[in-house]
Amino acid sequence: MYASAELSIQIIPISVSLRAADVFLESMKKDRIWLSVPHMGDMERKFVQEAFDTNWVSPVGPALDAFETELAQYSGAPYGAALSSGTAAIHLALIITGVQRGDEVICSSFTFSGSCNPIAYLGATPVFVDSEEMTWNMDAQLLRVAIRERMDKKGKKPKAIILVHLYGMPANVDEIMAVAAEFEIPVIEDAAEALGSSFHGKKLGTFGDLGIYSFNGNKIITTSGGGALVSENEGWVKKARFLATQARDPAPHYQHSEIGYNYRLSNICACIGRGQLLVLDQRVHQRRANFDFYKAQLEGLPGICFPSEPEGSFSNRWLTTVLVDPDTSGGITRQQIMESLEGLNIETRPLWKPMHMQPVFDGAPSYTNGVSERLFAQGLCLPSSTILSRVELDIIANAIKTLWS
Ligand SMILES: Cc1ncc(COP(=O)(O)O)c(C=O)c1O
Repeated sequence: MYASAELSIQIIPISVSLRAADVFLESMKKDRIWLSVPHMGDMERKFVQEAFDTNWVSPVGPALDAFETELAQYSGAPYGAALSSGTAAIHLALIITGVQRGDEVICSSFTFSGSCNPIAYLGATPVFVDSEEMTWNMDAQLLRVAIRERMDKKGKKPKAIILVHLYGMPANVDEIMAVAAEFEIPVIEDAAEALGSSFHGKKLGTFGDLGIYSFNGNKIITTSGGGALVSENEGWVKKARFLATQARDPAPHYQHSEIGYNYRLSNICACIGRGQLLVLDQRVHQRRANFDFYKAQLEGLPGICFPSEPEGSFSNRWLTTVLVDPDTSGGITRQQIMESLEGLNIETRPLWKPMHMQPVFDGAPSYTNGVSERLFAQGLCLPSSTILSRVELDIIANAIKTLWS
């Protein structure tokens, strides 16, 4: 009796404190300002309801077909296949361009690992090319050097170029495409972060032989998770759909002559995507307004620098990014800004760590010039959701300004 009373005395405080910790964590999550969150509307719900009402709860269906058509219309690419992720889209794009074990594929070094992991899935070798100062994307001169040297060393051309438009900023498309054309190497445009961005009025994702988008939950529009491959080549897009549905041959029974994948987007996710596409231009407008706000508030601080938008480029400003140069900021660092905002329960993140610095790609050939390493050392992504209120933006900007006061 006495023993059990003692036991309960020990248990109660622990369970109470656990519950208190849970409540605290929950409130932290609820009040937290995240970097980039989904922004849903009524149409997404309506389309999903229609799919439930008609029982199209599967990886085929009318919403999936409609989403593909509407995405192609938006991007200006004649054909598109909706897939389970942007990474899956890159994987299929590499297969379609003929990449095989032992091949080399050039990829922007300054990117997220989803851009280049599919190269490794195929047993090919990534060759990383560093960024230019202006756009932070692939440097065309370095690309040319890389191709020439790979041809000298390997006796064959790299099989494809994955050109990334990071944070929504168009790469130097004209020059990169000119180098690719000179060596007749196909370009896969990784526009995962750049849906809605354009270069001289043409949407990103439509310059390369194939383009890909991501609809991950953190992107400018989302299907909760998903991606797409677009192209002018109808045969390639059909091939992507075929490979994404386990490469099933046209036969009454299940027959397969090739290895396939389960990479199709579900009809339910496509419903969300259809609703999101309707407001994509509004979302681009809002993301750009976030960027303009931060820039107007913070640009005057010593050592702070925002990326500019070159003539002819239109960025969706998916994430607002900023550089903090400790040599001119009076010693204030990117890390201090991160810690100070974290103290207010506000999420920020360093810029992507370049792929040539990643342990998993240690030893991969890389052509570097120091640009992406500096961007990684100094750069920060600020909260950029389209649901951010003016009050929240003020809190973030004021917290940063306080560090300089
Ligand atoms: C530049 C870039 N490429 C590829 C991907 C992969 O997309 P997903 O997450 O849909 O697989 C992402 C994002 O997640 C990305 O930011």
